[in-house]
Amino acid sequence: MDQSQAEIFTQILSERRSVRIFDESTPYDEDAVKRSLHAATLAPNSSNMQLWEFYRVKNPQIKAQLADYCMGQKAAKTARELILVVARRDLWRKRKDANLAQIRKVYKGRTDKAAKRAEAYYSSLIPKFYVKDYTGLFSLGKRIFAWSVGLFRPMLREVGDVNARISVHKSAGLAAMTLMYALKSEGLDSCPMEGFDSKRVKKLLKLPAGAEINMIIACGPGKPEGIYSERFRVPDEEVIFTID
Ligand SMILES: Cc1cc2nc3c(=O)[nH]c(=O)nc-3n(C[C@H](O)[C@H](O)[C@H](O)COP(=O)(O)O)c2cc1C
Repeated sequence: MDQSQAEIFTQILSERRSVRIFDESTPYDEDAVKRSLHAATLAPNSSNMQLWEFYRVKNPQIKAQLADYCMGQKAAKTARELILVVARRDLWRKRKDANLAQIRKVYKGRTDKAAKRAEAYYSSLIPKFYVKDYTGLFSLGKRIFAWSVGLFRPMLREVGDVNARISVHKSAGLAAMTLMYALKSEGLDSCPMEGFDSKRVKKLLKLPAGAEINMIIACGPGKPEGIYSERFRVPDEEVIFTID
């Protein structure tokens, strides 16, 4: 019987577990990881700014060192690859320009409201949100502005420097999730990790100062004993609310 899309998705969803022990010898399709990483780039992301990067660490020496920096976690030590999902707020100018080029292509020659709005969004609003605020003064100004406008009409409140960081990490997290589901759909397992020494990892991989590691994902074919326990979630009633 053909599986419906919902059934396929449910199967991927239920089979994806955080696996802490990987099979270190079974051959696996390295191109499946490449395909999954491409799938990750299709994840939704704020303003389509795509402020992320993915680093596949396959080199055995660097991988071993990196696993040490992941606090020696078994998932990291036995993984066939370690994938860093990196938040790159600092690339905002480059991505803003890429988006501007794209909308100019899409709206070519148009001067209507929609074209002007799209142009203004990337050329004027986006810089105000992403520009790094070293003194905190610009952030304060933006928050006061948002608060004042908010007295009279609905207004975005999350406009400070910290909110730009959060926003970039939100999108990176969604890409990480997409990556893990894509890996599972390819028959590969994963374990997301935030237990690592970011300073040492950044130095090891020579990442620029502005890069922030969102997550390190261990991946490869998992071993059944790599799933440590039955899946546990609190009841839906505790976390899902309906406002009728
Ligand atoms: C942001 C994030 C960080 C995590 N960090 C670690 C980690 O450092 N080590 C680890 O073994 N698991 C880590 N996990 C995995 C969680 O423990 C796991 O997702 C949770 O227990 C639910 O189990 P499941 O993924 O099998 O459904 C992390 C998960 C997320 C989303």
